[in-house]
Amino acid sequence: MAPDLRRRGVARALLTMLLLRARRAGTLHAFLEVRPSNAPAMALYESMGFQRIGLRRGYYQAQGGREDAIVYRKALDWLPADGPQ
Ligand SMILES: CC(C)(COP(=O)(O)OP(=O)(O)OC[C@H]1O[C@@H](n2cnc3c(N)ncnc32)[C@H](O)[C@@H]1OP(=O)(O)O)[C@@H](O)C(=O)NCCC(=O)NCCS
Repeated sequence: MAPDLRRRGVARALLTMLLLRARRAGTLHAFLEVRPSNAPAMALYESMGFQRIGLRRGYYQAQGGREDAIVYRKALDWLPADGPQ
C-alpha cells in the first residue's frame, strides 16, 4: 500500500472482509507468512489474533541472501459460517 495511505485502517478492514468471506466458504483456519523484518505487518496480524506457529528458514529472497518467514495461523471456527452477507 502507498506509504501515505497507511495507518488508516485499510489493511485491517480488507483482511477482516477476507476472513469473513473465507469463513462463509467453510474455511476453519487462515494461514499466512511474513518476513521477520516487517514489523508493521507482524503488528497487524498479531493485533487481529493470528498466532505464530512456525518458521520457514530462508523462505524469501532478500538483499544479499535469504530471509526466513514466520508462519501465522488464525482459527476461524468461532465465527458463524452463515453470518450476515
Ligand atoms: C502492513 C500494511 C499492509 C499495513 O497496512 P495499513 O493499512 O497501514 O494497516 P492498518 O491501518 O489497517 O493498521 C492496523 C493495525 O496494524 C498495526 N500496524 C500497522 N502499521 C503499523 C506500523 N507501522 N507500526 C506498528 N503497527 C502497525 C497496528 O496494530 C494497527 O492498528 P492501530 O493503527 O489501531 O494501532 C502496510 O504497512 C503495507 O502496505 N506495507 C507494505 C507491504 C507489506 O508489508 N505487506 C504485507 C506483506 S506480509
